[in-house]
Amino acid sequence: MATIRFIREGIDIQCNPGENLRDLVIKEKLQLYGLKGILGNCGGAGQCSTCFVSVEGGTKNSLTPLTSVEEEKLKNRPDNWRLACQTLIKSSALILTKPQSPPSNLEELRNSAENKKLPR
Ligand code: FES
Repeated sequence: MATIRFIREGIDIQCNPGENLRDLVIKEKLQLYGLKGILGNCGGAGQCSTCFVSVEGGTKNSLTPLTSVEEEKLKNRPDNWRLACQTLIKSSALILTKPQSPPSNLEELRNSAENKKLPR
């Protein structure tokens, strides 16, 4: 099992390695999309660029590598951003949903999430 720690929501979700990150977020009824994505998204086809997440705490290698779709769509985005629909989970990771609109207390949430041991 892997644990995905959602920084904004302050929760840990257990999942199986190989699970799609977008599917996990939706299954757990967390909010993946900002307004644009709520109004219309591609349903996980890698076309709309509305399912952004950022990978925090140096856990980038806990996810599958960028797909060719992400290489294109994330060209002008920070290095730690992913498209959730293109991302498979390999092991435990720290994830921030909707990094395009970070919470005002992001540093506090990030520190709190990083200070608790993440199961591997
Ligand atoms: S849901 Fe459209 S790019 Fe991920």
